[in-house]
Amino acid sequence: MASSSAALAVLMLSWAAALAAASSPVTLFEAGYMPLFGGGNLVPSPGGRSVRLKLDRHTGSGFVSRSSYHHGFFSASIKLPDHHTAGVVVAFYLSNADVFPGNHDEVDFELLGNRRGHEWRVQTNIYGNGSTSRGREERYLLPFDPTLRPHAYAVAWTPTAILFYVDGTPIREVVRVPAMGGDFPSKPMSVYATIWDGSAWATEGGRYKVDYAFAPFAADFSSLVLSGCPVAGGGDDLAAAECQVATMTADCAVMTPAKRAAMRRFRRRYLLYTVCHDMYRYNGTVFPECDADGSERDDFHKWGESKRVSPSSRGYKQQQQRADKAVAVAAPGRPDTWPTVGTLRVD
Ligand SMILES: *[C@@H]1O[C@H](CO)[C@@H](O)[C@H](O)[C@H]1NC(C)=O
Ligand SMILES: *[C@@H]1O[C@H](CO)[C@@H](O)[C@H](O)[C@H]1NC(C)=O
Repeated sequence: MASSSAALAVLMLSWAAALAAASSPVTLFEAGYMPLFGGGNLVPSPGGRSVRLKLDRHTGSGFVSRSSYHHGFFSASIKLPDHHTAGVVVAFYLSNADVFPGNHDEVDFELLGNRRGHEWRVQTNIYGNGSTSRGREERYLLPFDPTLRPHAYAVAWTPTAILFYVDGTPIREVVRVPAMGGDFPSKPMSVYATIWDGSAWATEGGRYKVDYAFAPFAADFSSLVLSGCPVAGGGDDLAAAECQVATMTADCAVMTPAKRAAMRRFRRRYLLYTVCHDMYRYNGTVFPECDADGSERDDFHKWGESKRVSPSSRGYKQQQQRADKAVAVAAPGRPDTWPTVGTLRVD
């Protein structure tokens, strides 16, 4: 009992600290993670405070947490490669596909490269208990150039909600509603970071492939935060249960009015696509956790693409013009700029 209380105290401290932004308890690479694939394309810094992941024509690279976690707060600051990065995918995600191949859970940040002079996009997604036929993608632009310096991408995962953060601003909230059933990720997951060739789909639905004349592509990961409830073999069940409760009341998991307002502002400006307003993809079936008050609906076409975001990128404008044209002719389907995204996995 005493030891579990002590463990809880430590966990709650680390949770509080994790959200104190700059003073987060940063995990050194060797302490929290191990290499996953890519051999020499994974390059930890000498002190282990950062890791470079490279993609060349032979292989991408990646690392995985040493523990799996049953809920927690997970963050990485990532500096993305610049110039021509079409087809390149940099991912920071939680998954248990190795342990539960037929019914795995997953929570994704996927950073999608682009042609030179065009912005990187960010995609979030979740799967629960093998719901891979029910992708829940959203795509966003970023309010900064992600190739200039590191920016923090974080996930808070609790038994009742998942929050995605960019530089401390919540950008997506998935509240677990009973109708989601097994679709809400609920089994322990490990934390992954990878870079890989997503030529088949990453940039405008696969129109622009990785061009290895620009390789190697290098993404730098730093400020790694693993502040979760680790799943220890033969562990202390009481401490584990207390840790899960602690995740639900941690600052990073609680949506204050100010945070909700910041999320609305971000989404209004930068959300490009959301499955929640895609009336075609699943035959008009809307996921139960979606936008209960409908306040975002008017900002989206029937295929879930935003009417409002108008970034400087020429590529996006062309896409927008195509989308507008599709509206004008009352086309029944989505514009051909993005496919119905199916499988987004590295393997
Ligand atoms: C998860 O999937 C397994 C295997 O398909 C199934 O037996 C189980 O009932 C599912 N759990 C939920 C909560 O849907
Ligand atoms: C969507 O509707 C079409 C036409 O009614 C049907 O053929 C198709 O099977 C449906 N797809 C899903 C996923 O329900």
